[in-house]
Amino acid sequence: MNTLNHLAIIMDGNGRWAKQNKLPRTAGHYKGVEVLRNITIYANKLGIKCLTVYAFSTENWKRSADEVNYIMSLPKIFFASYIKELMENNVRVMIIGDREKIPSETMKVIDDAINTTKNNTGLILNFAFNYGSRDEIVRAAKKYAQDYKDGKVNDLSEESFADYLYTSGLPEVDLLIRTGSEMRLSNFLLYQLAYSEFVVIDTLWPDFTNDVLDSCIAEYMGRKRNFGGRDETKNN
Ligand code: IPE
Ligand code: IPE
Ligand code: MG
Repeated sequence: MNTLNHLAIIMDGNGRWAKQNKLPRTAGHYKGVEVLRNITIYANKLGIKCLTVYAFSTENWKRSADEVNYIMSLPKIFFASYIKELMENNVRVMIIGDREKIPSETMKVIDDAINTTKNNTGLILNFAFNYGSRDEIVRAAKKYAQDYKDGKVNDLSEESFADYLYTSGLPEVDLLIRTGSEMRLSNFLLYQLAYSEFVVIDTLWPDFTNDVLDSCIAEYMGRKRNFGGRDETKNN
């Protein structure tokens, strides 16, 4: 039986869902927010410790201003509707990504949610928002170089490097789910996913349900994780 402490999801397919339903792309993103609410509550019930969701990438600024502006308004919609429920469920909100480029009104709403939920001890709902893994690694390298120059550190290991990443302190990612069928990482958690299990499904994010999550987890539970080793007790 594999443990599942940290689940990461690339929530993809909102635009295709909207197109299928003859709706504007923004309607797909809105539906995606409702789905995220359900999955957060369910993942918490399942005892998952951390749920990292890819909500906006450093590359998503390439989209139309209308779409980007709408996505930047979603944290307000999400937290205005659900902060009470997140508190009742003991969920703690966190964010990873480059805060600098996020509009200040959006950042304020997110920081309010982080503050309100900071003492909660249930699931960590970790938003990857304006997140890009290459950007994260370059920043970490710069920060390390500065600390080295300042005489604060003199050695670097895999573990101490991980502490320079946005995900410092979070458990290892056990399972990555990507909805919407694309077989790529799109600049998500390149360092952190080194030994994670991947499940890619055709279901579009707005159609994702608790049952779909159950089936992804069942698939994960059936996987044999080797971490490069082999089971000496079995002759295989
Ligand atoms: C994912 O859905 C949400 C974000 C990237 C913000 P998309 O908007 O990428 O949906 P598709 O891939 O076009 O269907
Ligand atoms: C990945 O989806 C980013 C998020 C889900 C936020 P994209 O739709 O941006 O990925 P690509 O462009 O298809 O690789
Ligand atoms: Mg997409």
